[in-house]
Formats: sequence, C-alpha cells, structure tokens
Amino acid sequence: MSNTDKIVLTGIKPTGMPHLGNYVGALKPLIERSNTHKTFMFIADLHALNTIHDASQIRQHTHEIAALLVALGLNLENAVLFRQSDIDEIYQLNTLLMNITPKGLMNRAHSYKAAMDKNTAAGLDVDAGINMGLYTYPILMTADILMYNSDIVPVGADQKQHVEFARDIAEYFNRTYGNTFKLPEPVIGSDTGLIPGLDGRKMSKSYDNIIPLFAPESELKKKIMRIITDSKLPADKKDPDESTIYQLYKHFATPEQTEKFAEMFRAGGMGYGDAKKILFEQINSVLATPRAEYERLMANPDEIDKILAAGAERARAVAHETLARVKRAMLG
Ligand code: TRP
Repeated sequence: MSNTDKIVLTGIKPTGMPHLGNYVGALKPLIERSNTHKTFMFIADLHALNTIHDASQIRQHTHEIAALLVALGLNLENAVLFRQSDIDEIYQLNTLLMNITPKGLMNRAHSYKAAMDKNTAAGLDVDAGINMGLYTYPILMTADILMYNSDIVPVGADQKQHVEFARDIAEYFNRTYGNTFKLPEPVIGSDTGLIPGLDGRKMSKSYDNIIPLFAPESELKKKIMRIITDSKLPADKKDPDESTIYQLYKHFATPEQTEKFAEMFRAGGMGYGDAKKILFEQINSVLATPRAEYERLMANPDEIDKILAAGAERARAVAHETLARVKRAMLG
C-alpha cells in the first residue's frame, strides 16, 4: 500500500472559531493532505455534547467548522465531510465497543484525570460535573476511528492518547473476535505548539491571546497591532527569531518573503508598528479570499447542509458495512 492509499480520518469538535494557531498547526496540513489522500473529516458534534448543552450553539458551531473547511479549499472529492451525529451506525458501534473496552483504560484517560484533579483542587467531589459522555469519550472516538477503516489519524498532542486507546481497543477486539479492525496510527502535528499568540506565549484560548482565523479584516488588524513587543527602537537591529511578528509571518509567506522580512529585522530601521502592518497585509492577503467564501457560505446555511448531507451519504455506506461486520463478529 503506498502512502497515498492510506485512509486519513479526523474529527473536529464544534466549539467555536479556530484561531491562527489551529490553522497553521492542524487545518492547513489537513486540507493539504486531502489533495492526496482519501480523507474522512467530520464535525464531532456528539463529542461536543458533554460540554455544550445548547442545540443552537452546536448547530451554529457545526456550520462554522464545515463552512471554514470548505472555504479553505478542502478537496471534496477525496474528502468525505460530514456531521458525526448524522451517521446512526456510530451510536451502535459505540454501544458495542463498550463491551470490549476495559474500564481501567477509561480511568487512565488524561482528560478524565484532569477533570477529577480540578475537582479535587477545588475541594469538590471527584466526580462533580463529570458526565458519562466525558468518561466514555474515548470509546466514541474509537468508534469514529474504527468505523471508517482509518490508517492515519492526525490530531493535536492532547488527543494522542485517545488514538492509542483506539488502537488498544481494536487489538482487544481482534484478539477476541478475529481480525476485524485495522490498527490506526496517530499523526501529531509537529509545530502545533510553536505558533505564538499576541503575548508571545503559545497561541491558546486558555491564554486569551488568540487571533481568530476568520476575524473580520478590521478585527484582524486590531489584534495584530496589539501584539506585544519589546522596547527596541525603530533604528535598532532586531533578532527575528525573538519576535512574535516574524514567527507569525513565516507561516503565511513564501521562503523568499520570509527571508526578506528577517533581513529587515536584522538590518534595523524598521519599527514594530511597520512590521505589524506588513504582517497584517501578508496574513490578510492569504485569508481574504477564503474569508469571503466563508462569509458567503455562512449566509447560505442550506448550501452547507447540502454538502454535509452528501458527505453523510458517502460516510454511511462505509459505516453500514463496518457495523454489519462487527455485529456478525459479536452477535453471530
Ligand atoms: N476528540 C477530538 C478533539 O477533541 C475530536 C475527535 C472526535 C476526533 N472523534 C475523533 C479526532 C476521531 C480524531 C479522530 O479534538
């Protein structure tokens, strides 16, 4: 099997507009991969249910992610884009996999342990606010991964353990019932952690230092002008590698443009205000067209629904086949 024969799968939880760090670290590579690989890409709305209990919010965020992926140029021939909850087979596979998943595995999940630790630190009951959706989250994610015969699962570092669990569960299953599932492999975006936010720390919602991917142009500019810099004067020579402005720029520019910008830092004579303007122009030139397409799609939710319905149909064909295989193995 050549590398391009491998099936790529990933889910994106609909919890709000991604930021530039998500774009550079995860979305852009996913979209590029969709040009060469059969890809299953779904909006993991069922996974959002353990935290978001407002249907209109789930629907809104689901549309945002779908529109965003299409606007960024996801290859819709190779990529099956769908809503996780549209495939009834997923609830069934989830239930079946419950019976082969060791409880101890769930106890070891980082996300569950972090939730318990937070409770303990706050002096609450260890299980306060923890629902079964959160506790069994990795089983549903395993169902996602195994359902579509995935080989490669690109995820953020925080999700690596979940993909390993999927692999473990597939192995238990195959050992118990005979060879039924392929063993998936996590692929961790290598530079996800390196995209700085407005304050120079890693761009992250929890640091409140993000630049939203499709912020309107005026907001994009405002955010960029607010990037924190040191107190060097315009005339001073500057080290580009120490500058958040340059660190962001290089992800949106060609190597030649990047080298030229680095040279301007080193030479001195460019103030941070000017550097920010150049950064804004650069990011804006890359994002203006997809942003307009995103806005167009968001104004036409029927069009998004049609794309998702077509994706669901393709996904369902695979899910139907997998579920039949699993039921045969488990139930005879
Ligand atoms: N849990 C993932 C996240 O929070 C989203 C997700 C759900 C997913 N199912 C998946 C990712 C299957 C990869 C494969 O980011």
